[in-house]
Amino acid sequence: MEIVVSGTRPTGILHLGNYYGAVRNYVRLGDDPNVRGYFFIADYHSLTTHNNPEELKLLVKQTIATYLACGLDPEKVVIYVQSDVPEIPELYLLLNMLAYKGELEKVATFKEKIKIHNENINAGLLTYPVLMAADIIVHRAHKVPVGKDQEQHLEMTRNFAKRFNSRYDIDFFPEPIAYNFGDELVKVPGLDGSTKMSKTGGETNAIFLNEEPDAILKKIKRAKTDAGPSEPNSEKPQEIQNLFALMQIVSKPDTVSFYDQAWNTCTIRYGDMKKQLAEDMITYLTPIREKINELIRDEAYLGRIVKRGGEAARESAQKTVSEVRKIMGINYF
Ligand code: TYM
Repeated sequence: MEIVVSGTRPTGILHLGNYYGAVRNYVRLGDDPNVRGYFFIADYHSLTTHNNPEELKLLVKQTIATYLACGLDPEKVVIYVQSDVPEIPELYLLLNMLAYKGELEKVATFKEKIKIHNENINAGLLTYPVLMAADIIVHRAHKVPVGKDQEQHLEMTRNFAKRFNSRYDIDFFPEPIAYNFGDELVKVPGLDGSTKMSKTGGETNAIFLNEEPDAILKKIKRAKTDAGPSEPNSEKPQEIQNLFALMQIVSKPDTVSFYDQAWNTCTIRYGDMKKQLAEDMITYLTPIREKINELIRDEAYLGRIVKRGGEAARESAQKTVSEVRKIMGINYF
């Protein structure tokens, strides 16, 4: 069996980037009978930057509903909340002894986050990749479906796994890889001209998975564009490339070629392109939105799913951590 692990922080409603870059692949992998999939809500990770208890409660439920609405099947995969598995923070603590301050300070996401959250540069933010490694190797995972922005974290996870193996001279942890079915990892761009769609990028950046059709239309109409090409076959500026990238996700190949051709011949009409993009986006997301709205009403069901998932995740995590304790000599009598 191949072990697959991945998670999402409950810091906002999931958006098209989360879906297309990650959750869609959780589903594809979870459907493979040769895969044992563990998909979780990274609530501890969200506490490095977010600390509103009421919002956390809502967003954890919302994320579970979103996982299910996107097609994750609790009969096939384990769906759980990170904080329901105390072996994860235990392994995190043990891995912290293998992690160097210098390497943690060099992580790109740490450097970015301390710029944004410079009033709260906490130790959790610095050791974020160690907790993430614990999430992954606690199930001795092989593959981790994630978007491009998580590539460096996966590299660090492999380093910690290797370091553990070599320090204790044992081939215990596999070295997990960031996985997208052999393709490059994905980075879905924002509507505001930025290269990444993000949960915290503001109203003009992301299309959320529960977004109503008229809101989608409004956002896409307002998306950043330029004055149009002045020469045939010219290079597309970032904001226009972004619109095309989004179109590639939700529209038919013919539609993309049509607008590509229009760009190349300087006949493109952004108004038409945006209308088409909005229409295709709405078609793409409507089944997910409807399912989220239906599932979010049934809290008892969501609770049952993660209770059962938490138990299964703990069983797997306990096995690993009890081995780790033995390997490290933490078994005295
Ligand atoms: P998070 O919550 O930021 O994002 C969840 C997943 O969505 C992907 N993603 C994107 N993919 C493509 N384009 C985008 N614009 C885009 N935005 C987000 C992310 O790459 C991710 O796969 N550190 C992780 C959560 C985590 C985790 C883990 C992941 C904690 N422990 C263990 C895997 C394994 C994070 O912040 O993801």
